[in-house]
Amino acid sequence: MSDATVIVNADIPGPRISRHVYGHFAEHLGACIYGGFWVGEDSPVPNVGGIRADVVEALRELSIPNLRWPGGCFADEYHWQDGIGPREERPRMVNTHWGNVEENNHFGTHEFLALCEQLGTEPYVVGNVGSGTVREMSEWVEYLTRSGSSPMVDLRRENGRDEPWRVPFWGLGNEPWGGGGNMRPEVYADLARQYATFCKNHGDNRLYRIAAGASEDDYAWTEALMRAVADMKAAQFPSLPFEALSVHYYTIGGTWTDKGPATGFDEASYWRTIRRAQAVEPLLRRHIAVMDRYDPDREIGLVVDEWGTWWDVEPGTNPGFLFQQNTMRDALVASLHFDVFHRLAERVVMANIAQTVNVLQAMLLTDPADGTLVRTPTFHVFEMNKVHHDATSVPVHLRAPGAVRELTDGAVPTLSASASVAGGACHVSLTNTDLERSQDVTIELRGSRVGAVAGRLLAPSSVGAFNAGAHPADVAPTAVDELPVTASTVRITLPPHSFAVVRAELPDLP
Ligand code: AHR
Repeated sequence: MSDATVIVNADIPGPRISRHVYGHFAEHLGACIYGGFWVGEDSPVPNVGGIRADVVEALRELSIPNLRWPGGCFADEYHWQDGIGPREERPRMVNTHWGNVEENNHFGTHEFLALCEQLGTEPYVVGNVGSGTVREMSEWVEYLTRSGSSPMVDLRRENGRDEPWRVPFWGLGNEPWGGGGNMRPEVYADLARQYATFCKNHGDNRLYRIAAGASEDDYAWTEALMRAVADMKAAQFPSLPFEALSVHYYTIGGTWTDKGPATGFDEASYWRTIRRAQAVEPLLRRHIAVMDRYDPDREIGLVVDEWGTWWDVEPGTNPGFLFQQNTMRDALVASLHFDVFHRLAERVVMANIAQTVNVLQAMLLTDPADGTLVRTPTFHVFEMNKVHHDATSVPVHLRAPGAVRELTDGAVPTLSASASVAGGACHVSLTNTDLERSQDVTIELRGSRVGAVAGRLLAPSSVGAFNAGAHPADVAPTAVDELPVTASTVRITLPPHSFAVVRAELPDLP
């Protein structure tokens, strides 16, 4: 057991934590779309218009704010016109990135927007820069968002949709430094300017255009995009080429060629994973430092539109389908990321975990044999942390000298926390990554007397615990019954490898 104090300055409001940092990602990859979201109208699996009812019902518990689609790598070989019109007449294609399987285009624009409506979420559509054309992208925007009469609007009507959809988020390609075209940053920066120019705001739809950003620590990529911003702001007729740029950062427990298993991992792999997750903070801060040089007023957002764990696929599954189990280790990786997103909320305006169903660090896993659906440990972190959506981030300081694990190659901090206030209450998220030691945490709340308190804990018996059809609730949150409280503090004991959210009402907050 080690003792720690978490000091929360609840009366010093920081930036708003956009709910969009709790965004999601659904690619045409493995069983994410086909079998995950989409089963088709004739399926014996209960569905609404072909979309799995149980998947929608479960995801609605997360109030997911936005959904990124159709990729990922797939976005840069996707031609949207192949995915409209009568399904049986849609052309087929090969999904060359993911398993070389045939894509029948049965899940296309209308199906995706119907899914967003069922989920109550906002669409984030990624256009094709790698193998598409400016005209193709421009017409997709028109098809989706224009009203009245125009060639694309008339086509949409022929396909059964009268009213335009609201599409707030628009991606300008994906990973152009890799599968999206193997481009140099300057080339892509010019293309982003060009493509974005023809992504118009139709009617009152306002596009938030997101340029495809860096891989991990490629700060030169961020710099090239920010130069494009600065150049266009300094032009004779100043404008922004795009409203945000992205970055992709995955957490692995080994190397890219040997990422390690999702379950049954050893301690060394665990600590490598935790370190890699913690490294997201300095990495984002460095990208932000580059952005600050060109954009000190922070007009341009940073969007972490792919993040999460990436393990070796489950034995016996298609290596191109990226299907992996999800343990308490994954949940801790998620909670550590959210602490960072909360702290950097002024610049980090959006994030999308990869990916929502059946792929990489999923919220839900569906069993192809019996159709059962399980909520993963990561799902529970998203659900427990919902309290931070659109809340005000507040400063947190740790006094926790014992919260550290000494490893042969250096020390790893084992306590992480972040906090926000909303509606007269403060929520504190706490993560203990130590594998053996509990942490006795005193939360010192400054700025108000402490009123009623409550806590929820995710603390399975093992860090390798996971949920499956036969044991769907091995990892599930529980209420904390007793939280010792004074006028200014709340105490909670965090078991090893656990995550908690504490709520404290603060009646004196303005
Ligand atoms: O999320 C899986 C893949 O990872 C995405 O398609 C790609 O953008 C990234 O490399």
